[in-house]
Amino acid sequence: MNRATAGRYGGKAAGVIFGAALLLTGFPADRLSAQDVQRGKVVYDKWCMGCHGETGLGDGPAAKFMLPPPRDFTGAKYQIRTTASGELPADADIERVVAEGMPGTAMPEWKSKLSGAEQKDVVAYVKSLSTFFEGAQPPAVVAFGKAPGGGADAIADGGKTFEKLECFKCHGMSGRGNGKSSPTLKDDWDFPIRAANLSQNWNFNGGGAVEDIYRRMRTGLDGTPMPSFSDALDAKVITDEQLWHVAQYVRSLSPEESPPAVREVIRAAPVAQGAALPAGPDDSTWSRAEPSFIPMVGQIIAKPRWFAPSVTGIWVQSMHDGNKLAVRVSWDDGSKSPDPAWDEWMARLVKSVTDADGALTPAQGPDRFWVQFPKRVTDEAERPYFLGGNTRRPVYLWRWASTPDASEEGTGTGLGRFAALSGASEMTHAASFTDGRWHVQFTRALVPADTTASPTFGVGRAIPIAFFAGDGSNGETGARGAVSAWYAIYLDVPTPPTVYVMPLVAVLLTAGLGLVVVWRAQQQNRKS
Ligand code: HEC
Ligand code: HEC
Repeated sequence: MNRATAGRYGGKAAGVIFGAALLLTGFPADRLSAQDVQRGKVVYDKWCMGCHGETGLGDGPAAKFMLPPPRDFTGAKYQIRTTASGELPADADIERVVAEGMPGTAMPEWKSKLSGAEQKDVVAYVKSLSTFFEGAQPPAVVAFGKAPGGGADAIADGGKTFEKLECFKCHGMSGRGNGKSSPTLKDDWDFPIRAANLSQNWNFNGGGAVEDIYRRMRTGLDGTPMPSFSDALDAKVITDEQLWHVAQYVRSLSPEESPPAVREVIRAAPVAQGAALPAGPDDSTWSRAEPSFIPMVGQIIAKPRWFAPSVTGIWVQSMHDGNKLAVRVSWDDGSKSPDPAWDEWMARLVKSVTDADGALTPAQGPDRFWVQFPKRVTDEAERPYFLGGNTRRPVYLWRWASTPDASEEGTGTGLGRFAALSGASEMTHAASFTDGRWHVQFTRALVPADTTASPTFGVGRAIPIAFFAGDGSNGETGARGAVSAWYAIYLDVPTPPTVYVMPLVAVLLTAGLGLVVVWRAQQQNRKS
């Protein structure tokens, strides 16, 4: 926000300057040896160019699909720095981001692919793509100090400062990225940008630890609307301890285990004897059901593909009473779509994500959620094709949309090929939207009236289950949205056995789609 832009210019021209001439005309040899840059170019052309473009303009062949798009290196704007807002990054900052990647974006980690020397070389080359580094003094690194003790009081104090500094205007009161300003936010290149969902710290670009969060608040994320709060410290609006407490508060908004563990089996627990199933998605009975986290990724297999999903994970809970099964799915979404407040976002999105599979329509659709099972549950645990099945192995689908709030059950024979079951739907649903989060409860009898038209949910067995989510304010209509791999839902018998589950789990694991693998690979940097 308060970038020191003096002496800089928007760098389209800068990228083209690269060439032998540049190498010959004087980078200080101690900081950027010509050899480094040349070796770095080889690394760059092989691994980085596809996204960041030949001359570093962020316009590689893959760029048009992505949001956020690959960085334009010519303007030397870097988000993850240890230097003050508006300053160039330290070499160590760029080296860190290359090693660790940027979680929550398409920027991969490179420490498992490139040697330490290759990473340093490519950083030298990336710097050479911008004139701003030419002859520049190494920037001063901010002294960050150490975190004070945490605990409930510190977190409560941090919550108050979170309000005082008006973080909620962008991030929302619960931090789900749904503040009032959220749909109006854009980066320095006019791309739409979301205020980070602070309850999913595994997606923070610069790391999710208290120290990382504190640093981002001190330095801001240059090129984005996320400001630096160092000025508030200097002006004594807040103390350094209070700012650390904000970092501790923000950390407390995400689960302790981060990223959440992904288990292959969702357990549907039996309700206590004589107790009723939850009457709706906000029934307090749900607090007794164990939530399972399911990662979601953009639907990038069938056309039109979608690389910028807004739902990157959902929570699933389930209970049964011996007669009926209830499934509650919960996910974060900045808007109850369609929402006129998000027209501005959609307009910017339409201009930014111009993929090869057809233009986006600027009109917002409803939010959507689908739950999918095999039409017939067999002992072989043979699962249909995960994208809505096919004619040989169809799926049984629950489809819900937000506006009008309606659901239907039917048979799917491929993405977008859906036939509603004849007669009244046996599945009922109830949905609620509160402060940037959807909860939808689906309920159906374990044994359907017509057992040839839809599967029986047998107690004591595991049934394959998969999910699809679409955010109508994010251009996600038709096949555009987020998908999961296949999981299993296991209806616990009142005295829970563990042995039965294992064979099926083994089958599911070996037949895994690789989606989870991709997702986990993206999370590696959080864990290591
Ligand atoms: C699959 C696409 C992709 C590839 C390949 C890729 N990047 Fe990136 N990179 C991105 C995206 C997207 C961003 C911007 C993320 C954002 O703005 O939040 C980015 C951002 C960056 C940044 C900016 C960091 C900051 O602090 O702002 C650097 C540096 C970077 N990439 C270096 C590299 C290097 C070096 C390589 C090759 C070794 C590489 N990238 C390969 C997609 C990619
Ligand atoms: C003007 C809007 C705005 C305000 C005010 C704001 N933020 Fe942000 N913040 C953003 C945006 C936009 C991003 C996402 C940047 C990105 O994705 O590259 C972000 C990202 C973040 C991140 C993630 C950093 C990372 O590594 O990706 C954290 C943590 C954060 N903000 C915390 C805060 C806190 C705490 C406050 C108040 C002290 C605050 N923000 C105030 C807009 C804002």
